[in-house]
Amino acid sequence: MIRKKNLLLSFALIVLFSTAFAGGNKHKDSALDKKISALVSQMTLQEKVNLLHGNTMFTNGGCERLGIPQLKLSDGPHGVREEISLTSFRSAGWTTDSASYFPTETAVAATWNRNLAFKQGEALGSEFRARGKDVMLGPGVNIIRTPLGGRNFEYLSEDPLLISEMVVPYIQGVQTNDVAACVKHFALNNQELDRGTVDVYVSERALREIYLPGFKAAVQRGNVLTAMSSYNKFRGDWCGENHHLLTDILRKEWGFKGMVMSDWGGTHSTVKAANAGLDLEMGTWRPFNEFYFADPLVEAVKKGEVSMQVIDEKVSHILWTLFNTKQIGDTLKRKSGEFVTPAHSKVAYEVAKESIVLLKNEKNILPLNRDSIKTIAVFGDNATRKHSEGGFSSGVKSKYEITPLEGIKSRVGDDIKLNYSIGYEKVTSHTNEDGTRVLVPKYNADSLLRAAVKIALQADAAIIFAGLNHDFDTESYDKKDMNLPYTQEDLINVVAKVNPNTIVVITAGSPIDFRKIEKTTPVIVWSWFNGMEGGNAIADVIFGNVNPSGKMPFTLPESLEQSPAHALGNYHGKEKPLLYEEDILVGYRWFDAKGLKPAFPFGHGLSYTTFAYSDIKVKQNKKEVKVTFTIQNTGDRAGAEVAQLYISAPGKEALRPPRELKGFEKINLEPGKDAKVEIKISKDDLKWYNEAIKDWQLEKGKYRIEIGASSRDIKLKNDILIK
Ligand code: BGC
Repeated sequence: MIRKKNLLLSFALIVLFSTAFAGGNKHKDSALDKKISALVSQMTLQEKVNLLHGNTMFTNGGCERLGIPQLKLSDGPHGVREEISLTSFRSAGWTTDSASYFPTETAVAATWNRNLAFKQGEALGSEFRARGKDVMLGPGVNIIRTPLGGRNFEYLSEDPLLISEMVVPYIQGVQTNDVAACVKHFALNNQELDRGTVDVYVSERALREIYLPGFKAAVQRGNVLTAMSSYNKFRGDWCGENHHLLTDILRKEWGFKGMVMSDWGGTHSTVKAANAGLDLEMGTWRPFNEFYFADPLVEAVKKGEVSMQVIDEKVSHILWTLFNTKQIGDTLKRKSGEFVTPAHSKVAYEVAKESIVLLKNEKNILPLNRDSIKTIAVFGDNATRKHSEGGFSSGVKSKYEITPLEGIKSRVGDDIKLNYSIGYEKVTSHTNEDGTRVLVPKYNADSLLRAAVKIALQADAAIIFAGLNHDFDTESYDKKDMNLPYTQEDLINVVAKVNPNTIVVITAGSPIDFRKIEKTTPVIVWSWFNGMEGGNAIADVIFGNVNPSGKMPFTLPESLEQSPAHALGNYHGKEKPLLYEEDILVGYRWFDAKGLKPAFPFGHGLSYTTFAYSDIKVKQNKKEVKVTFTIQNTGDRAGAEVAQLYISAPGKEALRPPRELKGFEKINLEPGKDAKVEIKISKDDLKWYNEAIKDWQLEKGKYRIEIGASSRDIKLKNDILIK
């Protein structure tokens, strides 16, 4: 049984979250609405318009006369971005802006731990506040659609339920500090290739079932105070001037009361954008008074092309954000936050340690036993690389970042000899005078390999820190392919050949192709761009101080061609409309429907202990389905298991994916102990979106309920009849 302490903790969290959610964006705060209207009525047109566009790179204009402050925005989201110049993206050259660097969103998602998502959000919000920021530009909740997506590492998952469940507490955590979160990029920014011009066409059903639920949860359950429109087009209109997204859905259906800003440089018009529902224009490359929402907006109002009512609504959305972050009103009660504290490092460590995914562990090579090992060989550029500053807008000038090699050194002390050699070179490119880019290696690849073999032969275990870096997982560019770059595959294969205890640790935020190394490598661990404590976390997993409990938040395909967008030839840039023909079959939904075997499936992750599942019971009432079952830790060390609940709908009314995640629970268990787990699903969550009636519909018939340790490791099944 779950121990009493755990129960109390879960209860406290439920109370905390449900109180926080009770507000909801739809909630009519008539007293506040009245205060806002009163303020708006005192403003001149020029004063209103000053609020609606950037007047530096990261602030809008305030209104001093009426005590309305500027909004100070900052990236985000895995730490407060360094201070940058008022008029460009250049560094402002501060020396006091080194921040805490937290695990990236993919890592947060891989913990499947809602409580940790809340804690990371809370720590982030506190740092933003302490640096005087009002809005944190994140989290990004776009669906991971293609393995090549440059910003996959900044997003959470290929599954809308996992995104929603993790992002709600994350946003709540941020906003407890009187800082607004900003859910981005609304919507369908699923690739960086031609992100500013690509025109996405997706069915209304896939939009509702796959691409929007994360945003909707952020608004309706997370009560997020701001949102950012995306760079791309959707059905012919840029998302910053897309009436269907910004007004029909966000405002009218979801009741969003906060403010929508454009992405930086993502505004393309005055009248169309204003009437479509954009509130705040940021980052356009022209003088601030010439922004679409500056002087041209004043003109458009004078000409009657944009009504005063539309302007007033925009101002109200900004004032709503200012009141709710206590910049106006309860200003004395506004929290002041804390910057770079041991408590924040602890949160970064806790998230990192729970995010690491043990993909494969033949012969239980991991954890390494410190008592029987004398020498360890360590290889790889990623053993010593710091990733915090990379990736572009989400880069963080980190106060510190423990690398994997540093983490390992601190765990082995003097007892074990460590031999480090890079093994492969992260070759940097050089741009010639004619603009062509060439790779200029510093070392001879063969001699690096020979040196590695020599060290590996003499070691009791070899650890290769491989994977990607932010030259690949980055904003602005997609990856060209899924290959492991440089000569990493050669290194892994030669080392694994001479050392049977070879461990490969992948640092990356998007899938890589394992085909050339999967068979030769006995152990594969997936680590992420894992924040300032990432090196300590991975070292603790390797030596067993931490029992891994992360599960993959996206499928690792065997090849790029398996993946839906690529299988259907639906990945390209602006040259023609981009159709998402896979429709609702995104991620594992596609792999299951097509009977494809990925390298590692969605939800997969091993532990150093084993779990047994038993005793499934399913009950239903009018509103919900209640599933209970038992998990026992059948091994000899404490561990945590993420039990995943999937449903298969009858699928007679419309195509349904063979399996869809509808719930999960992460359970900590001491060896030998068991716990009864309960997962409730609302019947609304069983519905599909019927375009014909423009509404959600509950299909009657037999539903299969599956409980799995991954989407491909189903442990328990039961059927229910929905009448
Ligand atoms: C990114 C946003 C970011 C903004 C401000 C854009 O390039 O797409 O995510 O918040 O810049 O730096």
